[in-house]
Amino acid sequence: MAGDTFLNAAGIEKHGNDTIFSWWARFQEAKAAGLPAVNGTIGALLENDGNLAINKAVDSAIRAAPEQEIAAYAPLAGLPAFLDLSKTLAFGDSREELERLGFHFAATASPGGSGALFLSANNFLDKGQSVLLRDRHWGPYKGFLENNSLNYTTWPLLPSSTSDEHPYFAREEFETRLAELSSSQDKVMVWLNDPAHNPTGLSMSPEGRYACLESFTESALNNPEVGYTLLIDSAYSLYANETHAWADTILDSLEDGMMWPENLLFCVAVSLSKSHTIYGLRTGALVCMHPEKEVTDRLETVLCVTARQTWSATPRVSQYCVSEMHSTKEGGENWGVERDRLKQLLDDRRNSLIAECNRLDVPINPTMDGFFAWIEVDNPVEFAEKCAENGVFLVPLTGGVRIGLCALPLDSVPKVAEALSKALG
Ligand SMILES: Cc1ncc(COP(=O)(O)O)c(C=O)c1O
Repeated sequence: MAGDTFLNAAGIEKHGNDTIFSWWARFQEAKAAGLPAVNGTIGALLENDGNLAINKAVDSAIRAAPEQEIAAYAPLAGLPAFLDLSKTLAFGDSREELERLGFHFAATASPGGSGALFLSANNFLDKGQSVLLRDRHWGPYKGFLENNSLNYTTWPLLPSSTSDEHPYFAREEFETRLAELSSSQDKVMVWLNDPAHNPTGLSMSPEGRYACLESFTESALNNPEVGYTLLIDSAYSLYANETHAWADTILDSLEDGMMWPENLLFCVAVSLSKSHTIYGLRTGALVCMHPEKEVTDRLETVLCVTARQTWSATPRVSQYCVSEMHSTKEGGENWGVERDRLKQLLDDRRNSLIAECNRLDVPINPTMDGFFAWIEVDNPVEFAEKCAENGVFLVPLTGGVRIGLCALPLDSVPKVAEALSKALG
């Protein structure tokens, strides 16, 4: 193929035409042709009139930036005020209590949650080892892992036999995979996008998280020579009902007497792209928690050096402005009012979709929070084609079709449910 002379083996394997963008392009073509097309493709939150939804408090804060803060580099690890904020964004009200219990935090700024995921892929497993993911996951994970010479293995999103205790966590399958990895690798890492999962909108529930943490901790206790990292990808969690669900689960478990194994590291990949509607300003952080300060200090050094060697520093202006905004009670409240307004857009669309799908007997997956809903189908492309024939553009992915509630105007949600119903035929 053209360019092969210049490309290495890894480069040759990179194929374009991202599925999400190609289906979005099809929506745009249909719209340009004057058809009544509905856009359920993109992963950004749109107002009901189709414009990009903006958190006005963040927008005002950014516009007030002093010129020095726009122009200058940020420190390589990130601005201290932003690193402090990122710990609070990751752990919420539980942060203080966890600190009081003796936990320490490391934080490194990154270009979005993607950068945070890269930092973990680059440092926490050895080449050739596998990360454990759920079988339904955000597509780019694969590329982040491949670019760090890592593989992945999966466990199912939902249990095969219904569990009354934790219906949204497949514990048995998780434990099987965990045991396999623990016996074949000296380091184990799980990436878990919860609450408000992309692509389904699933949130695991406190019982599911408790069970997951218990399994993970037990595995760490039983294999003291193996290093365990549980990384929560919190990209959409500030739009969830339980915004700091994992921090709360950890705190509850500790208060119930859970022992923290020293070979267990807990991390959160923080993204401000959605929570602060600054997708393009590329701001996030990897926040790590461990009871030993020597461990978090070491991680700070390693992650900062990795950042330096990869993207240099993360943009300063967004770190500065968002930290300033959250540093006052008024600023934080203004952000919260806007966040609530945007969350309401999602809640209204989700409630409407669930009601319409129930009415039409369309078996969409459990969906609670965040930007997306999901229907599990055997033939995703064919199914999405049938929806497109009815003017509804969605994204076919592995195992199902993603419904971008974030992009759908509320009044077109019934049309989406009808298109799903017709496609099921
Ligand atoms: C599941 C998930 N994780 C992480 C990200 C990271 O986003 P960003 O790098 O823009 O912060 C996204 C963005 O779409 C996502 O969907």
